Amino acid sequence: MSKIFYPNRDFSKKAKIKNMCEYNEICAEADDNYEAYWDKIAKEKIDWFKPYNKVLDEGNAPFYKWFIGGKLNITHQCIGRHLKNRKNKAAIIWEGEDGSRRIITYLLLYYRVNRLANLLKEKFGIKKGDRVVIYMPMIPEATFAMLACAKIGAIHSVVFGGFSAEALRDRIIDAGAKLVITADGAYRRGNPYLLKPIVDKALEEKCECVENVLMVQRNFEEVNLVQGRDHIYNDIIKNYSEFCKAEEMDSEDPLFLLYTSGSTGKPKGVQHSSAGYILWAQWTMENVFDVKENDTFWCTADVGWITGHTYIVYGPLAMGATTIMYEGVPLYPDAGRWWKMIEELRVNQFYTAPTAIRLLHKVGANEPVKYDLSSLKVLGTVGEPINPDAWMWYYETIGGGKCSIVDTWWQTETGGHIISPLPGATPIKPGAATFPLPGIKAEIIDKDGNPTPKGEKGLLCITKPWPSMIRTIWGDPDRFVKSYFGDCKKNGKPVYFSGDAAIYDEDGYIFITGRTDDVINVSGHRLGTAEIEGVIGHEEHVAEVAVVGRPDDIKGEDVFAYIVTKKDIDEATLIKNINILITKEIGPIAKAGSILIVPGLPKTRSGKIMRRILRTIAKGEKITQDISTIEDSSIVGTIEKIFKEQK
Ligand code: PRX
Repeated sequence: MSKIFYPNRDFSKKAKIKNMCEYNEICAEADDNYEAYWDKIAKEKIDWFKPYNKVLDEGNAPFYKWFIGGKLNITHQCIGRHLKNRKNKAAIIWEGEDGSRRIITYLLLYYRVNRLANLLKEKFGIKKGDRVVIYMPMIPEATFAMLACAKIGAIHSVVFGGFSAEALRDRIIDAGAKLVITADGAYRRGNPYLLKPIVDKALEEKCECVENVLMVQRNFEEVNLVQGRDHIYNDIIKNYSEFCKAEEMDSEDPLFLLYTSGSTGKPKGVQHSSAGYILWAQWTMENVFDVKENDTFWCTADVGWITGHTYIVYGPLAMGATTIMYEGVPLYPDAGRWWKMIEELRVNQFYTAPTAIRLLHKVGANEPVKYDLSSLKVLGTVGEPINPDAWMWYYETIGGGKCSIVDTWWQTETGGHIISPLPGATPIKPGAATFPLPGIKAEIIDKDGNPTPKGEKGLLCITKPWPSMIRTIWGDPDRFVKSYFGDCKKNGKPVYFSGDAAIYDEDGYIFITGRTDDVINVSGHRLGTAEIEGVIGHEEHVAEVAVVGRPDDIKGEDVFAYIVTKKDIDEATLIKNINILITKEIGPIAKAGSILIVPGLPKTRSGKIMRRILRTIAKGEKITQDISTIEDSSIVGTIEKIFKEQK
């Protein structure tokens, strides 16, 4: 049985939701009248240009619509409305890896965003509905770019700066982007690196949709500029007005696309809405992180992922909070960097991934004691299950035993938190995401909607629509329906299946156990095994390949590839070739940690690779599964033998 940790009493007294009675009451209110509940908070939280006339339209399920007829602009919610009382408050505190800092007040943010919005409109002719790809390092201009798009109704698609030219190209083409916003480069591990050449490479082929590239100069390294196509932000931004009228957006107008990996095929462009998304970003900031007016909030994610979207940019700014953005890596110049920043900037809420906690625990367990971390009130984790050891270190050493840890479970598709403790209310257990947030019907069920008995693994589903949910997959509505609403039903009606399995413990706490599909989670990054296999398959010596996730102490999971070769090649060369290819076509995050050359793969008679078996072998565990359906079952023993020999 896991130990329970109760919220700090003094903290609870001032918290937004103070105890489990209050939590239960809000849940009951939402259960009693779902639409009235959402109606109440949407009216209370959003500064509408024009009110909506209907809360939820389920007519074309699963293409749900929320707050129909309402008009708003997210930049008014995130900037404009704060100018009255917070114009000189820090909206963004940015720290470069070299220690330089920039403080962007709400007023300054307003001017910066307006200028860029005008530039996009006037110079590049970007209009409502156009797609803009943002491929940027962690600098404030990435945030300005996202918000400038939102101001004029363009749909942004941020591509993580660690993705390769090929991965960037695929996303640009799929989105049909007219403009790419990038930077010359930035700093990482103490050295300058370049991004612009990657954009140039991506645009070499099949990207006719892109008319212009806007480049921010960050490190002033020498880069190539294509005449007529490429423009330097620093040179031209001053020519544009600091005032710009916000486009009136419909509640359901897309705010952004964000590509994420699925179990099959190419990445999916997850499409989010305007009103529902911002409502939930703001509500969760206020209640899950319990952010107060003078708090300083730090989420260490990259803006290229959903966590960065919702909890560096949209959530904190919608709340009128101060958000920290850090350019570099946690180990530069040493493993105390983050703790030093917490001390110096008096961070109150700190949100990071278990992989970073494990890394900092391993390489710098003694660093935190050198710093004053007493400003911290709430600690958060996201992206993967957290092991009890890492949890305890986070709780005791970083939080001093007084901060609740909010283990937030959610996904690119959910827009914001779905299952999470509330820091002033929920008694927490190491490794448990605990309970669904009020108004969210997250349940562990079987395919037919029956609740899973306590202690048994089931499918994690969300059985009612919620405002910040994915609206569709860009350009592929059928895939949207199939990917998320094709597996599970409740009361005969398709419900959203997350792809994760989970367990209720004896007290009804939810523990996430991991993906049920062929998606792996490497350092909190979601990768499709099919995508990696596709790339490895291009290596000339490879006849067949199967990729699975293998548990890893720091990364959570690591890429493990089983390879059948068609030509003789030594293992070291093959590993090198494969990792060069993966880096080129996806990015270094997807590199294979281990490769095993095998004479064949276990397959069913219909030719399907039995990955469960391969996963078990990669973990070094004994096979207990039924192998009678394998066409040539002797291959299992052979692979096990090779695995043991290699170890
Ligand atoms: O498997 C779950 C895991 O991350 C997946 C979502 O990945 P992505 O869309 O990239 O978004 C990550 C950040 C929201 C989920 O399907 N995951 C996310 N949070 C947790 C988690 N696994 C366990 N515990 C969590 N708190």
